[in-house]
Amino acid sequence: MAQVLKVAMPKGRIYDKAAALFRAAGLPVPEDAEATRKLVIPVPEAGMEFILAKPVDVPTYVEYGVTDIGIVGKDVLLEEDRDVYELLDLGIARCRMSIIGLPDWKPGIQQRVATKYPNVASRYFREQGQQVEVIKLNGSIELAPLIGLADRIVDMVETGQTLRENGLVELQSIFGITSRLVANRVSYRMKNAEIQQLCDRLEPVIRAAQR
Ligand code: PRP
Repeated sequence: MAQVLKVAMPKGRIYDKAAALFRAAGLPVPEDAEATRKLVIPVPEAGMEFILAKPVDVPTYVEYGVTDIGIVGKDVLLEEDRDVYELLDLGIARCRMSIIGLPDWKPGIQQRVATKYPNVASRYFREQGQQVEVIKLNGSIELAPLIGLADRIVDMVETGQTLRENGLVELQSIFGITSRLVANRVSYRMKNAEIQQLCDRLEPVIRAAQR
């Protein structure tokens, strides 16, 4: 008998896109799962159970095996560096990680960078041989250069609207981001048939969306 797949789904901007992808793959996933305050949502028709998680926590749930699989942005995967198995690039929630600043930014003596991604930012500047002080913030990162907390920020750019509306510019794009399907390493072996079947259903939908 097929086993139930426990899936860590990210709450917020990725949820709707991921749910739409599942539906296009023929899995009857509810549209309004996020409308309630329920955090554990059985989806028996799809042989799944959703755990609605804060996106940054998805790799943690998957690494510890409390969910078998999860959907998470490449930005979070690189920042959290958890031991999970990356199965598929879902091609959704496409955006990029960039260095952002005021239009007149020039390298100065004191270089401070604010970001929600301190590990990603520190690694990048270390590789570039640049000495910067990285300051961790949890949101509204664009404020930092506007009010003088930092010279630059490292943040996600999707439409560019937040930058434009705050008079900031993209100084450099660092890497592209999409959402990924990841699996717990033990679940990948123990529930291989179920996970493989899900991948087989998703792959043609992802390919079709990229044409
Ligand atoms: C993200 C990111 C940018 C914005 C980019 O913030 O940190 O601020 O979206 O999107 P855009 O290019 O389409 O404007 P989020 O909405 O996650 O809110 P936050 O302020 O809590 O980080």
